[in-house]
Amino acid sequence: MKPKLMSLAAAGAMFTSFGCTAAAEKIEKVNVTPEKVLIAYFSYSGNTRYAAEQIQKNTGGTLFEIKPVKDYPAKYDDCVAQAKKECNGGFKPELVSTVKNMDQYEVIFVGTPNWWYTMAPPVLSFLSNYDFSGKTVILFVTHGGGGMANCENDFNKACSNAKILKAQAFSGSNIKKADSELKKFVNDRIIIKQ
Ligand SMILES: Cc1cc2nc3c(=O)[nH]c(=O)nc-3n(C[C@H](O)[C@H](O)[C@H](O)COP(=O)(O)O)c2cc1C
Repeated sequence: MKPKLMSLAAAGAMFTSFGCTAAAEKIEKVNVTPEKVLIAYFSYSGNTRYAAEQIQKNTGGTLFEIKPVKDYPAKYDDCVAQAKKECNGGFKPELVSTVKNMDQYEVIFVGTPNWWYTMAPPVLSFLSNYDFSGKTVILFVTHGGGGMANCENDFNKACSNAKILKAQAFSGSNIKKADSELKKFVNDRIIIKQ
């Protein structure tokens, strides 16, 4: 995490819900074949991409990068300022591409960084582009200290007609040490039929 975000992350940490690990919670498992699994993610600085790639390895599913037509500013402070306005306003940026064969997918993992306590705006756009009825959706989040914050609630509202399994948040700065945690995240939720 870059130093400039320390204060934002520290503020976020105050609002962290400790529910994100769902220790005692029983999570329903779904049976699925690899070709019916989609892992869609947005990533600005690579952490969520890394998590998505691990989930892909553990499922054999298809990766889809959620990319806005207009890239976010490369300068971190400018990105943080733009994101603040967009997140507060519920802005949905136009995306570069759509999943052409969404019908083929039964389980969709959706990855986002925690941006200003919620999902990054391109993920909101992605969710509004499809009808998820009959599908199972699973959110994963990477964060800079603020944990899940409002991401799960906002996700659940955005795809209310889907079957929603328990979301999980991962520390962005530790993501490269979280392979086994990511594997468990997958195995606690789906059973891959070969
Ligand atoms: C615009 C912006 C806003 C952020 N807001 C938060 C926040 O509210 N809480 C938090 O814990 N981390 C926040 N972060 C840190 C990111 O959630 C964290 O670094 C994440 O792992 C980045 O994922 P990525 O590398 O896939 O983009 C923010 C980062 C950016 C760039």
